[in-house]
Amino acid sequence: MNQAVRFPKGPALDRILTLELVRVTERAAVAAARLRGRGDEMAADQAAVDAMRQELNQLPIHGTVVIGEGERDEAPMLYIGEEVGSKTGPSVDIALDPLEGTTIAAKNLPNALAVIAIAEEGSLLNAPDVYMDKIAIGPGFPAGMVDLDAPAADNIATVAAAKGVPVSEVTACVLDRPRHARLIEDIRATGAAIRLIGDGDVAGVIHTTSPDETGIDIYLGIGGAPEGVLAAAALRCIGGQMQGRLVINSDEQRERAHRMGVEDVNAKYEMGEMARGDVVFAATGVTDGNLLSGVRFGRQAVTTHTVVMRSSSGTVRWIKAEHQDLDKFDDAL
Ligand code: FBP
Repeated sequence: MNQAVRFPKGPALDRILTLELVRVTERAAVAAARLRGRGDEMAADQAAVDAMRQELNQLPIHGTVVIGEGERDEAPMLYIGEEVGSKTGPSVDIALDPLEGTTIAAKNLPNALAVIAIAEEGSLLNAPDVYMDKIAIGPGFPAGMVDLDAPAADNIATVAAAKGVPVSEVTACVLDRPRHARLIEDIRATGAAIRLIGDGDVAGVIHTTSPDETGIDIYLGIGGAPEGVLAAAALRCIGGQMQGRLVINSDEQRERAHRMGVEDVNAKYEMGEMARGDVVFAATGVTDGNLLSGVRFGRQAVTTHTVVMRSSSGTVRWIKAEHQDLDKFDDAL
């Protein structure tokens, strides 16, 4: 563990920022949605990046992108270290993914999102773009109930016992990847069900927070580390438990992690170590999903669906917005 745990002392971010952040993900989601289902991942992603950056630069913050589109030499915009905002307000860390689930957006499949989290400066784990092994459950369970290092069967059994249901009524969400063959076998051997997702594990983790609506009780497996930090930020606000550990496969990745300030690449991070202090998280649906509807282009209005939440207050707002002036839409949003 390379950073001391420091839970919030109280609200440190300007509360107005919470609602301001909605415009940022709305704008990115609408831009991406205009290109969804066209089979062009890069075009949809680029549109979302441009739109998010434009809106972000109007926020009264002095922001530094710590989780972004990549390192400076590989991403021209919203790269790690880029300073964003109007440079007038509080200094904040920013984790963002203008289009989380580029492939699902390109295929117009469920759960593509535009996501962003802001936190007090120095509060978000500067995770390199490598994989992360993750486990997450929603709120309402005793602390420390699941453990990344325990066998999947034990974690599933613990969740079933805490819910008071047989294991066969537990569903685990797992990314559909060959690397998960063994994990999938182990989970199925318990009698639990698996929801295999093609992409989008930020949504996969968030879905554990509303099992009655999403049907997902636990998230398990390896996905992107940047997505892990974003998911941890969301769970810090909405409640739940999550642990993650970087998956380092080469010396180059180890060096990259060290360069980004990770001292112990084998550290098991608790949720509160990946996203500390006062955190605000927002996500807008690009395509229809289990919790968020996708952008709708109507004859009279564009409709967006966003969740925005804040750790210090625990407030979770679901915002359905109608943007009516289509001609001025891009300027006005
Ligand atoms: P992108 O939005 O960058 O395409 O990421 C989608 C995603 O599925 C993430 O949700 C997940 O964390 C990661 O990719 C998994 O990576 P991989 O596709 O290499 O298994």
